[in-house]
Amino acid sequence: MHFFQYKKGELFAEDVPVSEIVSKFGTPVYIYSHATLLRHFFAYDKAFDNNPHIICFALKANSNAAIIRLFAKHGSGADVVSGGELYRALKAGIPAKKIVYAGVGKTEEEIRYALKSRILMFNVESENELKEIDRIAGEMSVNAPIALRINPDIDPETHPYISTGLKKHKFGIPIDNALEYYKLAKSLKNIDVVGIHKHIGSQLTKVSPFVDALKRILILVDSLTAQGIKIDYLDIGGGLGITYRDEEPPVPEDLARNLLPLLGKRKLTLLMEPGRSIVGNAGILVTKTLYLKEGAEKSFIIVDAGMNDLMRPSLYGAYHHIQPVVKNRREKIVADIVGPICESGDFLAKDREIRNVKQGEYLAVMSAGAYGFTMSSNYNSRPKAAEVMVKGSKYALVRKRETFNDLVRGESIPEFI
Ligand code: LLP
Repeated sequence: MHFFQYKKGELFAEDVPVSEIVSKFGTPVYIYSHATLLRHFFAYDKAFDNNPHIICFALKANSNAAIIRLFAKHGSGADVVSGGELYRALKAGIPAKKIVYAGVGKTEEEIRYALKSRILMFNVESENELKEIDRIAGEMSVNAPIALRINPDIDPETHPYISTGLKKHKFGIPIDNALEYYKLAKSLKNIDVVGIHKHIGSQLTKVSPFVDALKRILILVDSLTAQGIKIDYLDIGGGLGITYRDEEPPVPEDLARNLLPLLGKRKLTLLMEPGRSIVGNAGILVTKTLYLKEGAEKSFIIVDAGMNDLMRPSLYGAYHHIQPVVKNRREKIVADIVGPICESGDFLAKDREIRNVKQGEYLAVMSAGAYGFTMSSNYNSRPKAAEVMVKGSKYALVRKRETFNDLVRGESIPEFI
């Protein structure tokens, strides 16, 4: 459910015609709907209302300051995976005590920064990381609050590149070794064990992997309790999918209905780290048709957004709906919708049936709010797109389009060349 709808054949973002935004800010442009963002955020908040919980929005899905601030205003925490994300979260007003920090490769500087900021907990992914956090915390004369990220060996049945909870993956600590690692954690002087964490993958379209993983984690929580290791925070990660094409993923309420009863009488504050399911359908990427081209075997619609702006189709073969900003009744054609980048892998859609487009017309790439801008790059020296937020009939630029000057900022030419 989102607030990008046609009114009299013209695509609107809430109450604003997309064409108005485009004429003001140009293309490619990401447009986010305030109402959609909040609707999805509150869907979680309401669903888990009966249990103490913190929604730790996964910044990796979308880390625009305006979006983080909006969630912060409504009580959100943050899931971060780098010093940069921690900086963004704090700067946008997320309280440190609502920030969890995951990632297999935290550097010493990042660990120091997180300790100094007094975050809620580190989601620790290996024995050596645990020892390193202990050492650094000791040097800083503080205690480091930690959860271990447990890899429960559950198949999330999603794209292999975004599945993380199997034995073969680099993430987390194998569930079979968990007890031993927790004992180690407990024995370390500068470590405070406060939680347990799991995240098994992204774009999950069924509840069952969440249920299976949680059951395994809860068995572990009970063994830990029996050993005198107290767990306060149970972090169930993110991963709920969205509709890109015809998927019918569960909604947060389904998740809550299936997961909350499993907790029983255990006194756990639930943390969750949704990214995509909050921002995915709350954003679109609007692009302009530059050329139509008849190849020897295929038709191409060449647009001004490329794989550097939205990498998902190229990287995962991901499907995104693509719709005209102004509807038409022309004949349907089948074409590849491609960007200007010098790579055959630069496409937004392959063999897509679409009503014929004319040069200069605009297309909206739907469900682009998650892993869109955050994964964009400057490849081919293309300035990054502008980002705009709409609220009702108001709208504002939330990130201006990069300039050529931005591209070379920070570069220097040494004398010796
Ligand atoms: N927590 C952890 C530890 C994660 O690794 C992730 C995503 C999340 C939370 C948020 O998951 P979500 O609720 O968004 O599914 N670039 C890929 C997705 C990679 C997801 C990585 N981790 C894509 O565009 O599909």
